[in-house]
Amino acid sequence: MHSNGYQSGFGNEFASEATPGTLPVGRNSPQRVAHGLYAEQISGTAFTAPRHQNHRSWLYRIRPAAMHGGFLAHHHPDFHNDFGTGPVPPDQLRWNPLPMPGADAAAAAIDFVDGLFTMGGNGSPAAMSGVGIHLYAANRDMRGRFFYNADAEMLIVPQQGRLKIDTELGVIEIEPQEIAVIPRGIRFRVSLPDGVARGYVCENFGAFLRLPDLGPIGSNGLANPRDFLTPNAAFEDREGDFELIAKFQGHLWRAAIGHSPLDVVGWHGNHVPYKYDLRRFNTIGSISFDHPDPSIFLVLSSPTDSPGVGNLDFVIFPPRILAMEDTFRPPWFHRNIASEFMGLVHGAYDAKADGFAPGGCSIHNCLTGHGPDAATFEKASDADTSKPDYVRDTMAFMFETRAVIHPTLQALESPQRQRDYIACWQGLRKHFNPSQ
Ligand code: FE2
Repeated sequence: MHSNGYQSGFGNEFASEATPGTLPVGRNSPQRVAHGLYAEQISGTAFTAPRHQNHRSWLYRIRPAAMHGGFLAHHHPDFHNDFGTGPVPPDQLRWNPLPMPGADAAAAAIDFVDGLFTMGGNGSPAAMSGVGIHLYAANRDMRGRFFYNADAEMLIVPQQGRLKIDTELGVIEIEPQEIAVIPRGIRFRVSLPDGVARGYVCENFGAFLRLPDLGPIGSNGLANPRDFLTPNAAFEDREGDFELIAKFQGHLWRAAIGHSPLDVVGWHGNHVPYKYDLRRFNTIGSISFDHPDPSIFLVLSSPTDSPGVGNLDFVIFPPRILAMEDTFRPPWFHRNIASEFMGLVHGAYDAKADGFAPGGCSIHNCLTGHGPDAATFEKASDADTSKPDYVRDTMAFMFETRAVIHPTLQALESPQRQRDYIACWQGLRKHFNPSQ
């Protein structure tokens, strides 16, 4: 499939046709669709969800989505939603990056789906609440294989290597410092233009991600809607012995399919995949004193029924200028009710001197103390705050969620886990002097 470019906007009623005259005018399901296509609706919300929250798209396609063989269980022990029911250690947790798989022909072939590794999560697809947090490392295109996720919207954050994501609704191409969101149910295939790729995936079992309200910030700022890009229609008319992998209720299933399901010639609607370049985020912060709460860095949020409480908040720490005077400028020491999974896409994170590498990750759960390491604390305490700091070469992010993130057993026992992580705070000296 070739990219036909993008349409700009967030949550719009988009429309696109790869072959002229495909989209019906004035109705969704005419008696006969142009070019002998089938009409099919995919809904992402309840039919009767309020209009501003209602997601659905109409697809005009060569064959309906119902045409495939029966599903059989597909074994993938590393990618699941079994977050465990046992005790969760309240430790601060951090991991080195997954090793990159070899790109040569002798290396074991690992595609995007094979390369997913579950780090943790909360809630469940059955409850339609919570998140699943995964890493991926891959060295092969998905060949003759298509995937969809009935459990979750998927937020994909590449850290190394570009991804070409051929979806039913068109082609999304992303590189590190860009993200893609694939809605529930949309079928897709991932190829790796650079041969290898590594990154992060958050499954959102809850309400779909949306842009936050801006309150007193006003009508501009943070992530601007026009920077979100949804693909134009692109299709392939291919037959063969293919495989459709479904993620359904926490497990993978496999069915034979005799044609490419990426056969949608035209579509309209708002249940759509999209991409966003994190470098376009308009970062807002203090210009007097103090460091605002990190909610000021919110890109996208999956709300819950409790106002202001996120099922998933996707937050970034992009390049920024710190000008606050008489202020400890790095992120402060804190314990939060929300639980945090952090990753680093690029450069260095300003709260840690070392140990948090691009591709690595950390979990700081509900009310577990954390913050800058000893080296960062000493440096920032002595810094001259009459001059601005330019934090240039960085792109860290956080998947923040209201419920505790249960790390998987495979994550806790992973050779990448830094078992000495807590040592980074042990060097914080006592400065207390009541007579000073
Ligand atoms: Fe934190």
